Amino acid sequence: MTADLAWFDQRASKLRACVDAALTTYATFASGCPAHLAEAIRYSLLAPGKRLRPMLVLLGAEACGGTFEAALPAACAVEMVHAYSLIHDDLPAMDDDDLRRGLPTCHKQFGEATAILAGDALLALAFEVLAKGVRPAETAAACCAALAEAAGACQLVGGQADDLVAGRDGGGLDLLESIHRRKTGAMLLVSLRLGAMTAAADAARTVALERYGHALGLAFQITDDLLDVRGNASEVGKRLGKDQRQGKLTFPGLLGVDESVRRAAALVEEARDALKPLGAQAASLAALARYVLQRNR
Ligand code: IPE
Ligand code: IPE
Ligand code: MG
Ligand code: MG
Ligand code: MG
Repeated sequence: MTADLAWFDQRASKLRACVDAALTTYATFASGCPAHLAEAIRYSLLAPGKRLRPMLVLLGAEACGGTFEAALPAACAVEMVHAYSLIHDDLPAMDDDDLRRGLPTCHKQFGEATAILAGDALLALAFEVLAKGVRPAETAAACCAALAEAAGACQLVGGQADDLVAGRDGGGLDLLESIHRRKTGAMLLVSLRLGAMTAAADAARTVALERYGHALGLAFQITDDLLDVRGNASEVGKRLGKDQRQGKLTFPGLLGVDESVRRAAALVEEARDALKPLGAQAASLAALARYVLQRNR
């Protein structure tokens, strides 16, 4: 590991611990939430994920001179939407996966109906946390609107819908890039936007973060496709080789491994370049981009 990455790794562990503590508190439910539902929600939300999107919120805020404290509710909200999207992505009607974050998927552990409902609850909880936790109220409303758009029919959900049929319909590079930007890129991009919003960032800083997020979002899903082809199963914590078995449209499937690696690397450099106007305050985001390229899970 390079010095740059070792330093980021340490910082990431601290941020993850801070996010996990807040998520644990948010996922404590009053009477009315059945015990098995609460258990399923906590199982998936608190499972050992990378917490990349919350880190983008926190580090995006930092890069704009904001505080972690003001950004933390938004950081938790994006992780809740992400966790819901993973639960539903794994369902038999979608990718039909049995392993996630090194554990049985939510529906394998709790049954399909409870998994669907746990996802539903997490999606709602995300907006409750944003609306109640972000201040001032106008910023909270703007954060709700931005996250709803990124999670909605034209972004995450639309990308997921196209992902399910794209391989079968034999799509090309334009469709593939459009799917990846929507199903994955949009959530990474909005994480940075929320960070900027909670820091009341000016337009120039926001644009720099958006350019970074746009490039990083695509690079991230290319590396996800690559891990499915050549990752180490015990590190990745998911079943591998599933994209090819299910005939998914992916970067390595369409362009081969070497060209996919080259593209991801070029996008990561593009992302790092976009941070230049932000100076030293964006050092962690610059390191995070390298981590995305070299990640093994
Ligand atoms: C997996 O996301 C789903 C994709 C959008 C590719 P992550 O790789 O961030 O999953 P966790 O949160 O670390 O488990
Ligand atoms: C999932 O993409 C994207 C979302 C969950 C929105 P994948 O289907 O490639 O993610 P993994 O590989 O199952 O984590
Ligand atoms: Mg999928
Ligand atoms: Mg999947
Ligand atoms: Mg994948």
